[in-house]
Amino acid sequence: MNFIIRKMTIEDVPVVAQLDHMSFSLPWPEHSFRYEVKENPSSRCFVVETDDKRIAAMIVSWIIVDELHIATIATHPDFRRQGIGSQILTYALEDARQAGARRAFLEVREKNEAAQAMYRKFGFEITGRRPKYYKDNGEDAILMTLEHLEAE
Ligand SMILES: CC(C)(COP(=O)(O)OP(=O)(O)OC[C@H]1O[C@@H](n2cnc3c(N)ncnc32)[C@H](O)[C@@H]1OP(=O)(O)O)[C@@H](O)C(=O)NCCC(=O)NCCS
Repeated sequence: MNFIIRKMTIEDVPVVAQLDHMSFSLPWPEHSFRYEVKENPSSRCFVVETDDKRIAAMIVSWIIVDELHIATIATHPDFRRQGIGSQILTYALEDARQAGARRAFLEVREKNEAAQAMYRKFGFEITGRRPKYYKDNGEDAILMTLEHLEAE
């Protein structure tokens, strides 16, 4: 399968919101994605688009001074375990590095082994915990940080 990684557009938002619903128990409302694409100056949003114009993955990240915060990332269930999540994460990290970011961080559910395994492969390390962060089940958030992005 061939695909490209490109900036998320406002036209992508309904499909991206569907993908978000398939991927998270606390999905974002569609207007949040619209805000990120159109209004938030800190936001960097990308999608993976296949040959046949399907959205296989998305990422929303924020660059704040010299830090990249990964706000959300998901691969469509039909396309998981094919390296696509890693590719879009690599793309966002490289974009942030070029924009001057020196470290990246994110929150991930304590029980989300799949995502944590992916982040560990990139060198993210656990640097904190936010107790009962997720409102649906009271799960803790693990804070993971990737230092020295500028040297990657
Ligand atoms: C986490 C997620 C984005 C990974 O996307 P993906 O496209 O499947 O990721 P990749 O194929 O690039 O996998 C990269 C590595 O992550 C780890 N990984 C991914 N899915 C895994 C799983 N189900 N179980 C264990 N490890 C897993 C593996 O180490 C994998 O490398 P490998 O396939 O060589 O073993 C995807 O599972 C997803 O969308 N999950 C739901 C949303 C979510 O949890 N997002 C993260 C929020 S913090």
